Amino acid sequence: MERTYLMIKPDGVQRGLIGEIVSRFERKGLKLIGAKLMNVSMERAERHYAEHKGKDFYEMLLNFITAGPVFAMVWEGDQAVGLSRALIGKTNALEAAPGTIRSDFAIHTNYNLIHGSDSHDNAEREIGIFFSEEELVSYDKAIQVWI
Ligand code: PPS
Repeated sequence: MERTYLMIKPDGVQRGLIGEIVSRFERKGLKLIGAKLMNVSMERAERHYAEHKGKDFYEMLLNFITAGPVFAMVWEGDQAVGLSRALIGKTNALEAAPGTIRSDFAIHTNYNLIHGSDSHDNAEREIGIFFSEEELVSYDKAIQVWI
């Protein structure tokens, strides 16, 4: 089993898309093991996006992610990182495949609704930035045997 960190960004929260987006991961069969609505401090934002420091969009990204509440989540499942990225779609909405979250709802690369960890190691790092282990739950899903 793998865990991944997903975060509905301020635009997704403001547009009332939390339910729609969460539903897609639920229907896929991934298991939600942590979630909270929260404001992201500048310090947390800098840690989360540390690898992008120096890129031309870095400041904009920090200002955006700290501009309003995000819906932070941890999901679990076989290949959770890769499957989540597939459901989210490419960074640029123009290149995102039809049926992905970004293709269906995003117009701008700057405001692309949701973040998903891009590797197993980054997932564990990002979970550690936004959640304590006590905030995550462990449980069996009744239909787990089929998915
Ligand atoms: S890169 O350069 O290949 O590492 O970029 P990428 O992995 O696609 O994106 C890194 C994160 O930066 C966001 N991003 C942008 N934000 C604002 N403006 C522009 N032009 C832009 N380009 C990329 C992108 O959404 C990624 O954020 P997360 O939260 O991981 O989706």
